[in-house]
Amino acid sequence: MRRLFPVTYETADHAGRQGGGEPLGSEWSLDALADAYAYPPRADHQAWLRANMVSTLDGAAQHDGRSQPISSDTDMRVFGTLRGLADVVVVGAQTVRQEGYRPARAREAFAARRAAAGQDPAPSIAVISASLDLDFSLPLFTEPLAPTYVITGSGAPAERIEAARGSGAEVLLAGEGATVDPDRAVAALADRGHRRLLTEGGPRMLGQFVAAGVLDELCLTVSPMLTAGDAQRIAGGSALTVPERFELLSLLEEDGFLYTRYGRRRHSAE
Ligand SMILES: NC(=O)c1ccc[n+]([C@@H]2O[C@H](COP(=O)([O-])OP(=O)(O)OC[C@H]3O[C@@H](n4cnc5c(N)ncnc54)[C@H](OP(=O)(O)O)[C@@H]3O)[C@@H](O)[C@H]2O)c1
Repeated sequence: MRRLFPVTYETADHAGRQGGGEPLGSEWSLDALADAYAYPPRADHQAWLRANMVSTLDGAAQHDGRSQPISSDTDMRVFGTLRGLADVVVVGAQTVRQEGYRPARAREAFAARRAAAGQDPAPSIAVISASLDLDFSLPLFTEPLAPTYVITGSGAPAERIEAARGSGAEVLLAGEGATVDPDRAVAALADRGHRRLLTEGGPRMLGQFVAAGVLDELCLTVSPMLTAGDAQRIAGGSALTVPERFELLSLLEEDGFLYTRYGRRRHSAE
């Protein structure tokens, strides 16, 4: 893997040395990846929400209903690193159902870093759902290392809210009706001390978070594949009135895959 942006002294002259001193082109250690993807320090203690998504060259966010066919081993290392840094992983219910979500693992590679940051050994998973049509007997709900959250609206079916609570999940009500208001979801997690937020989609959920203006950063893997067809893009739903501008924070490359980090362009008043 190599860093293409920002171009630094290290990139240009130490071509061949990265992070722990690995030769250019070799696999980066998880520690080097964790440094590259560290959450920005925020003096105001506000939450920082980043998304991690993968897309093909022609914009497909999945193939045959899964993201795995358009991903790679290194993309999964980045995925694991982003989890390793996060307090909580926010995910839409359809992705949980389709990708068979399990509790996040505690990984030795991130243990010291997490302990120093006062984090649980593994991130919590927070499932966003209106119907609560979820199998609450799954390990995701019954055997998490850190609390699993179910985020829904106050008008969600009462018996399903009870079923979620009965499984051991913590239910956060963050919307009127059954629908979750993205602003309120972020605030509810921040109220519980979760500031390093990561969302893994899917596209229907991410589109609403984009529209609500709560996404601070996008870690987008550009997969060197074409799929054609009518697969979803990484963010769906209603279009913004005015496209929101992001700026490139970093760009890594390996085997034709581009690992981008884009941050929401902040106005000087912010
Ligand atoms: N390329 C990638 O990086 C990537 C990442 C993730 C997923 N994917 C792919 O995307 C597909 C699934 O994504 P998707 O867009 O169909 O679904 P999704 O966004 O994962 O989940 C949609 C569901 O989330 C719940 N939801 C979303 N917004 C909500 C809100 N504001 N309030 C309450 N509930 C809300 C609803 O759940 P209920 O139905 O329970 O009410 C809704 O049906 C899969 O094929 C997966 O493989 C790709």
